[in-house]
Order: sequence, then structure tokens, then C-alpha cells
Amino acid sequence: MTYADYQNEIYFNGLRGVLPSLPMTYADLEPPAQAAMSPSVLSYVAGGAGDEYTQRANVAAFQRWGLFPRMMVSPTERDLSVDLFGMRLPTPLFMVPVGVIGLCTQDGHGDLATARAAARTGVPMVASTLTVDPMEEVAEEFGDTPGFFSLYTPTDREVAESLVHRAEAAGFKGIVVTLDTWIAGWRPRDLTAGNFPQLRGHCLANYFSDPVFRSRLAKSPEDDPEAAVMHWAKIFGNPLTWNDLSWLRSITDLPLILKGICHPDDVRRAKDGGVDGIYCSNHGGRQANGGLPALDALPAVVEAADGLPVLFDSGVRTGADVIKALALGATAVGIGRPYAYGAALGGTDGIVHVLRALLAEADLLMAVDGYPTLADLTPDTLQRIH
Ligand code: FNR
Repeated sequence: MTYADYQNEIYFNGLRGVLPSLPMTYADLEPPAQAAMSPSVLSYVAGGAGDEYTQRANVAAFQRWGLFPRMMVSPTERDLSVDLFGMRLPTPLFMVPVGVIGLCTQDGHGDLATARAAARTGVPMVASTLTVDPMEEVAEEFGDTPGFFSLYTPTDREVAESLVHRAEAAGFKGIVVTLDTWIAGWRPRDLTAGNFPQLRGHCLANYFSDPVFRSRLAKSPEDDPEAAVMHWAKIFGNPLTWNDLSWLRSITDLPLILKGICHPDDVRRAKDGGVDGIYCSNHGGRQANGGLPALDALPAVVEAADGLPVLFDSGVRTGADVIKALALGATAVGIGRPYAYGAALGGTDGIVHVLRALLAEADLLMAVDGYPTLADLTPDTLQRIH
């Protein structure tokens, strides 16, 4: 079985008159998935910062690169596997942290659906701190696929440490600290709807189930949910500086990855602080509308990382995008909104379909264009188009 075989499965089903029930392109996926979401979830998932220029630029950046087709290679077998933090993963994909993915599925348990999709595909989930179901229950669904926990660092260091230690105990294989969201960016769609899901008490299970968080409350979240939400809002965002890195490094022996890094100087400071991985991302353009596509930041980040693994996300919509990010030096590539929309349309099956379609497209691109392994995808396989 290769990832490319997904197309044969679909064509052979077609011979029996069975057509795919889920869309085959991102363009066809987005409208029905958005229609399946409640207005408040939709504005949160689809929206970005400011006039969403950066969000669009992230996607457009991929079209400025073209991959050279190489002939007389015809790799009948392709190897898409990667080494990451001492683990061998079958594919270079991972599912990015999406707070509110829990609300994206029709049953309201999208974190579990995502974890089950990870188990079925081997594509790891990076679970958000903001989940409907507590991290322990999410981790139980991973099967043999490793999972990662992403930390929104609270100002209360003991709560932060408790979350990290719970993640360790639950079997997560790495801690991703998201740096770009200590304060929420200016998001006109959510502002128009007066909507911030967590303030309505959504997706706070990791906090409400946390013994240290609970110890800070006069009454339990069950008895006084409003006070619990207000306390959450008070401690949610920690304005971290480089001085905090030694503390972050000290609280876990798991691989530590910093998310939101786009400048080579920040890579060097992170390396000096002993991190295990760099996560190049501009949060899908949801946080700052500064205009630099994450993909354009990637080559310098990779160079400064100097061998440290570089995870990448922001704007990946196709299998070709995955290949281009890998060729520009990413070790692993994060899928964001496409899987959220898969979740909205089809729950676990919807996510599995999105991932299989991306993998099939990437695998077939490697086959047709003559790249047998990811190591063959070097920067000089790409040409800047305009
Ligand atoms: C996010 N992202 C995010 N990142 C993070 O570190 N923790 C989180 O809880 C969230 N929550 C979240 C919610 C929603 C609805 C979205 C769409 C995104 C950012 C995410 O991890 C990733 O950086 C972007 O999704 C990548 O951009 P694209 O590819 O989705 O456009």
C-alpha cells in the first residue's frame, strides 16, 4: 500500500457507482464545511487578524514556487517517513493545534475525533491547551501514533507546570510552547460577532480538570462556572520573554519546541536556550496581520536552526504545498484549517479523508516528478516563479 493508492481506491469505487462522499479539493471542502459550522465557530475558525491579508498571503506564497520535474527516475517506491525527536514517523505531516477543534465536529468532541484520525493515519496530533475533552482522554485515542501537547503558557507558573506534567503522564511525546498568543490579535470577524468562545466557557476542560487551577478558585468550576472562566481569562496569556526560556526548559525532559518563530535571530536564541525544535508559523495569519507569509520566513529559519528540526505551518492547502515546504527545509509540515473543515463535514472520517488526500497528492507528485525520498527534496528542486 502506498499513499498514492488512495486514488485507485476512489477510481475502483467509481466503477461500482460509488463516488467520494467528501470533497477532493480544499476549494470544494471549504464552503460546505463552513455551512456545517455554527456562526460563532465559523468566524473563529475561518477568520484571521486585520483584513486577513497575511492569512491570504500565507496561501499565495506557495504559488510563487515551482518544482522541477525530473525524468528517468520513475520512483515506483517512495519513502515519506521522517525522523523526529528520536521517533520514526510514517509521514512528514502533523495536525496543528486548533483550540475549538472540539467544537468543529457535529458531536462537539472534535479533539477525540482528531486523536482517532491520528491513530488511523499515523499523522500526529498536536493537541491545543484549549480542548473540549481533557488531554488525558484525548491521549487515550492516539493508538500507536505519538501525540504532542501545545501549551498556552498561563501567567500562573504552577498551573503551567501542572499542565505540562499531566501531558507527560498522559504519554505526550513533546511540548510545543506557542509564543505568539500571549494576547489575542485583532480579529474583526470575531469582534463583529462579539464572540470569543473561551470567554463563553468553551474548550476549558484542561483548566477546569486541573488540580492546581482548581485550587485557585473559591468554588469549583461546576459550582461557579463564571468565576472559573474569569480566573482563566486572568491567567491565560503569559507575556513571555527570553528570560523565561530556562524555566520552560527546566519543567520538562520531553522535547521542547517553540511555536511562532519566524526570525533567524529568534531561532538562535531558542537554540541557545536548549530547545529541541523550532516551529516556524505565523499562526495562520490569525494573530498579527504583518504581511510576511510564513513560507517566506522558512528558509532563513531553517538555516539558523542549523540541523535542529523545523516544524512548519501556515497556508498549507495541498499536497504540492507540503512538498514545497519540505523542499524549503521543513522537517515536518502542519495541516491546519483543512483538517478543521474535514472534521466539520465528516468527523474522524472527514479528517482521515483530508489527510489521505494530501498524502496521496504529495506521494504522486514525488512519483511523477522523480523524487523517491524526502531527502531528495532539496531547495534547488524549486524555482521561484514570480
Ligand atoms: C489555531 N492555531 C492555534 N495554535 C496554537 O498554538 N494553539 C491553539 O490553540 C490554536 N488554535 C487555533 C484555532 C483555530 C480555529 C485555528 C484555525 C488555528 C494556529 C494553528 O496551530 C496553525 O498555526 C494555523 O492554523 C496554521 O494556519 P492555516 O494553515 O490553518 O491557515
